[in-house]
Amino acid sequence: MNRKEFLADCGKKGLAGVALSMFPWLESCSDKAQQEVKGEKARIGMIGTGSRGLYHIKNLLRMPNVEMVALCDDYRPHLEDAAQYYPKAKLYDDYRKLLEDKNVDGVIVTTPLYLHGRMTMDALRAGKRVFCEKSMAYTLDEALEVYNCRKELNGVLFIGQQRLFDPKYAKAMQMIHEGKIGKVVGVRNYWYRNNDWRREVPSPELERRINWRLYSEYSRGLMTELACHHLQNGSWAMGMLPEKVMGSGSLLHWNKDGRDVYDAVSAIFTYPNGVNMTFESIISNKHFGMGEQILGTEGTIDLVTCMHYTDEPAPKGSGMHQLVAQIESGVMSNSVFAGTSWAAETSPLAPGMPIMDNVTISTGESTVGAEADGSIEIMEAFVHAVITGKQPEKVLEESYYATQFALLADKAMHEGAILTLDDKYRVPYTPLG
Ligand SMILES: NC(=O)c1ccc[n+]([C@@H]2O[C@H](COP(=O)([O-])OP(=O)(O)OC[C@H]3O[C@@H](n4cnc5c(N)ncnc54)[C@H](O)[C@@H]3O)[C@@H](O)[C@H]2O)c1
Repeated sequence: MNRKEFLADCGKKGLAGVALSMFPWLESCSDKAQQEVKGEKARIGMIGTGSRGLYHIKNLLRMPNVEMVALCDDYRPHLEDAAQYYPKAKLYDDYRKLLEDKNVDGVIVTTPLYLHGRMTMDALRAGKRVFCEKSMAYTLDEALEVYNCRKELNGVLFIGQQRLFDPKYAKAMQMIHEGKIGKVVGVRNYWYRNNDWRREVPSPELERRINWRLYSEYSRGLMTELACHHLQNGSWAMGMLPEKVMGSGSLLHWNKDGRDVYDAVSAIFTYPNGVNMTFESIISNKHFGMGEQILGTEGTIDLVTCMHYTDEPAPKGSGMHQLVAQIESGVMSNSVFAGTSWAAETSPLAPGMPIMDNVTISTGESTVGAEADGSIEIMEAFVHAVITGKQPEKVLEESYYATQFALLADKAMHEGAILTLDDKYRVPYTPLG
């Protein structure tokens, strides 16, 4: 794909239908912003060239403003995999050496969770502009340290919460904030898979390195790996942060291989106005896949399928219009239908209306990353920020709190307690859009 095709592709992604004034951080993905940096290069170095690193590399290869100048991984096979895409990049096995490299302006951190905080702060202190994968840090204290470090240095920091940059989420949030579903009275999230969440290990001594997700020494399990995306939707839709959280987790099914992170979790987050947000993940049944649903007094928005349902009966005849609209927009083939046939127009199960045309729907099954989920846009915005040095407004706070509440819920489950976020972890928060 050449530059022209790529930019045209960005336009097609739906930014045209989104009120950028409501979502100023998306401006750096606009054609106008891309024109501003035309001809300029962001010199990037990547730390951690595992599966997510390679996923980003494949997107970055399509971006004309990117020069990948350095790659770092302390596991040689992964470094060599990445080097095939960028044969001219300098290779490092020690990330501190990459940070000393004066040719590197921006750093992408795609290592296991327990390294995020340290590597991000070291990179910021080395004067680099940083994109770190979610979650932001491994502990509540460390997340605050990272937040303050960025603030003190006035640096650029992005956390990989790509839904913030996904045009279909922005469009849906715009509808929610415009009152299209009435008052928000519930947020329902789930992420079900049916696999052991393991990666193949070439030799036994590499088990913990390759399968770091399964061990609490390196990871906080399903909350930091999956829930952080959903929790961020909650605050975006609600325009506020949860007040307290309780939950329960267990090692339910995949419990004989030595792992020590939960494989089944349920958490309830309560907002100051009494609304509950739930998150549930079970990785031994995948029937319901992934769901992110915002429930209002007048309707529901399903963020994953990008559908809008109304609680009011649809006007007569609209069922057929909906059917036609859905076939035209290509949503039909991906939609899940409850019931045996086309639902009656007045039924609560009435098929909704697509929020946007031609959406790609993620099942949530991939452990590497989904297609068309905002990951390209967030990386484009980061590349723009590496060149301009501008930190986008508000989004870092959103990512910060997604991490804090994921960690707090994990703590609540381990302690069997109802927890609130201590005041010392509160940073200024302005609701989005
Ligand atoms: N935003 C998303 O949708 C999304 C999707 C998948 C993964 N992720 C995140 O990406 C991150 C990486 O996940 P992954 O699946 O790629 O893991 P991975 O294990 O495949 O890759 C991590 C890489 O980091 C390397 N590494 C470990 N310690 C290192 C060190 N000290 N110095 C240099 N390299 C080191 C490992 O060798 C490995 O190659 C995680 O935080 C994960 O949550 C985000």
